[in-house]
Amino acid sequence: MAGSPESLSGQDVGSFAYLTIKDRIPQILTKVIDTLHRHKNEFFEKHGEEGTEAEKKAISLLSKLRNELQTDKPIIPLVEKFVDTDIWNQYLEYQQSLMNESDGKPRWFYSPWLFVECYMYRRIHEAIIQSPPIDDFDVFKESKEQNFFESQESVMTLCAYLQESMKAVEELGEEQLKGEFFKFLQVSLWGNKCDLSLSGGETSSQKNNLMNSLQDLQPFVLVNDSERLWSLLSNCKKTREKASVRVDIVLDNAGFELITDLVLADFLLSSKLATEIHFYGKMIPWFVSDTTIHDFNWVIKQVKHSNHKWTSKCGVDWANYIKMGRWVYHDHLFWTLPHEYWAMPQVAPDLYAELQKADVILFKGDLNYRKLTGDRKWAFTIPFHQVLNGFHPAPLCSLRTLKAEIQVGLQPGQGEELTASEPNWLTTGKYGIFQFDGPL
Ligand code: F6P
Ligand code: MG
Repeated sequence: MAGSPESLSGQDVGSFAYLTIKDRIPQILTKVIDTLHRHKNEFFEKHGEEGTEAEKKAISLLSKLRNELQTDKPIIPLVEKFVDTDIWNQYLEYQQSLMNESDGKPRWFYSPWLFVECYMYRRIHEAIIQSPPIDDFDVFKESKEQNFFESQESVMTLCAYLQESMKAVEELGEEQLKGEFFKFLQVSLWGNKCDLSLSGGETSSQKNNLMNSLQDLQPFVLVNDSERLWSLLSNCKKTREKASVRVDIVLDNAGFELITDLVLADFLLSSKLATEIHFYGKMIPWFVSDTTIHDFNWVIKQVKHSNHKWTSKCGVDWANYIKMGRWVYHDHLFWTLPHEYWAMPQVAPDLYAELQKADVILFKGDLNYRKLTGDRKWAFTIPFHQVLNGFHPAPLCSLRTLKAEIQVGLQPGQGEELTASEPNWLTTGKYGIFQFDGPL
């Protein structure tokens, strides 16, 4: 984007990008290697010697990757043929074209952080698909499932609250309905604290009763455009100009965050604020905890088979929504590319056209925010609309807890004040935003 500031990158020693590439990413890679090791016997039992060989091969490819990263080697093209290989390699050439002659090749600590971090997860996937017969192994599956199991108590509380709230939903007045809507939105926002890449793949489950903490968390919402979201949806409901009202949710993490998103989606249907919900997940294991179709189906199945009455009621309803086509899950390779979202009309016109059918799109999480804003060193006060750089498939709202050194659309002085009192405010996940872009 012409005239935009520099990208966040590992060049800035001491920045969160730098620390991520230096410490957190190697830690994640080591954990992936350990996971493969631990599944050694399982691979042997399933595939015999071939399984053992495949495990060794994947580990050696991943060790090589870790070494390339730690010694800041040039970023190399992908070699294994997959649906997106050519697009990735073209993007690498594009990164090369942005460099000066004297800079050499794109490198881990030199190139945009967004690019190298996405590339790292894509290379993990390459190591796995180069190692048949274990080429469908999800190296993050265990952590995602553990996060879900450790959040059991919170899942039950949330499901019970949802069922209780739905009983009375028809009788709620406008203000009460709005109050409930805001609650479920906040639950989905704070659910985004539970991402496993920030914690280096360590558990980051939800153990407290989130419903009881919402009030206390309010001061940590730095941008709150939820009123605009409410106006949009309640107007759709009131005017009923259209038979259908469609909300699209670009999912982030599996485990507890996914539950909070499904609970919100259920509330939107039960309250008739929406008539259909479309979800978007990742086609390959991504940023440790991101949701794949497997995770999506797995979570719904777990909820359905819960021993807890209200939880399993949720699971039954959710499976029905899917059956009836009121909940639709979409896969698209664009979500696991390194591109900023303003490139979507060129790179994935079919996906852009799909998103245009939504009445509003909710983008969950930190990585989506980085891609919406291009992961640049924007001033804190620049308007959100401006940094989207023409990406407006439909009105949209980011629900994100802050885990990267980027935030736009703040009030003058707000960012500086936070920096003075809490130097790490941008990266701990303590703060959150509901940032909306759409008609006023
Ligand atoms: O490690 C990079 C990063 O984008 C962080 O900024 C963030 O902690 C994480 O990955 C992804 O977070 P989320 O799951 O909220 O997209
Ligand atoms: Mg994530």
